[in-house]
Amino acid sequence: MTNRRVVDVHLGTDDIDKALRADVTGGLTAEPKELPPKWFYDERGSELFDEITRLDEYYPTEAERRILVDNAAAIVELTSPATIIELGSGTSDKTGAVLDAAVRHRTLRRFVPFDVSEAFLRQSVDVLAERYRTLVVHGVVGDFDHHLPYLPSGDRQLLMLLGGTIGNYQPKERRELLTVIAERQRPGDHVLIGIDLVKDVTRLERAYDDARGVTAEFNRNVLAVINRRLSADFDLAAFEHVARFDTEEEWIEMLLRSTVDQTVRVADLDLTVSFEAGELMRTEVSCKFRRERFEADLEHAGLAPVEWLTDPAGDFAVSISRR
Ligand code: SAH
Ligand code: TRP
Repeated sequence: MTNRRVVDVHLGTDDIDKALRADVTGGLTAEPKELPPKWFYDERGSELFDEITRLDEYYPTEAERRILVDNAAAIVELTSPATIIELGSGTSDKTGAVLDAAVRHRTLRRFVPFDVSEAFLRQSVDVLAERYRTLVVHGVVGDFDHHLPYLPSGDRQLLMLLGGTIGNYQPKERRELLTVIAERQRPGDHVLIGIDLVKDVTRLERAYDDARGVTAEFNRNVLAVINRRLSADFDLAAFEHVARFDTEEEWIEMLLRSTVDQTVRVADLDLTVSFEAGELMRTEVSCKFRRERFEADLEHAGLAPVEWLTDPAGDFAVSISRR
């Protein structure tokens, strides 16, 4: 059965190139400099992220898995999905608990993983199509910020966004993304979002600065992506990984600190950028939530919260809402 497995690609290499050029030009000429996080996820970046999810310090993956495993039957009972869409699916590892329950529930027909990383998406579509022989596995390669309108339509959709990925958006962009998601919800559809919760600062900062330096390598990988794709000459050894919790904003900031005065050339953009010793460039935020704040965001976007699930330790939450 060849048509059980489909991959739509909405991100041609041209689009990616254009977007990367615009982001890097804007980010490196801004004051302070910054780089947007979607460029972490080339093949190496996706591998490193996968390694992060297995670190002792990085508690969110296991906490979220626990919530999904413990509540899979209840989630499926509540939502009776015919289609499950997963945004930022990566390896779809934790999603398996919900897929299994939905297959047992006999409502599920189709799984739609959506990710910006084509190589990873293709791999996981193959694995999933083997594992779920009764399902259509319809992968979509795209960018949340542009391609959500291309998601397949159909009744009783459960749209999932796991891993705290929503926290990688700043508040304004987060509300915009939630609004776009809300607008495509029809009666009977549900939205399931995993979010990390505010907690002890030491644990938070360790989760983003592990002892083995995997997260540091992941952070610096964005420079390798720019070197390769835009013929730049970033010296990765001259940038240090920094992760710190901002108690005002309640987010972890990931930054790269230039260890010396240096000049970087980005040949394909005809751009020369100088960094001072100690200068910080932000590469990512990861917002940590409290229930009220997150549910206010949902309501602002036009979504009504219907369920709030946490792990026993109260580290992580899964929110279910509908229009
Ligand atoms: N859901 C997985 C992976 C989370 S990491 C988990 O919970 O462990 C974030 C994922 O989102 C990565 O797979 C990355 O490739 C994807 N991603 C990041 N920015 C994206 C964007 N703008 N559009 C689509 N996918 C994106
Ligand atoms: N969504 C993940 C999170 O915010 C992404 C992530 C984990 C991440 N560790 C990271 C992003 C380190 C950049 C650097 O937890």
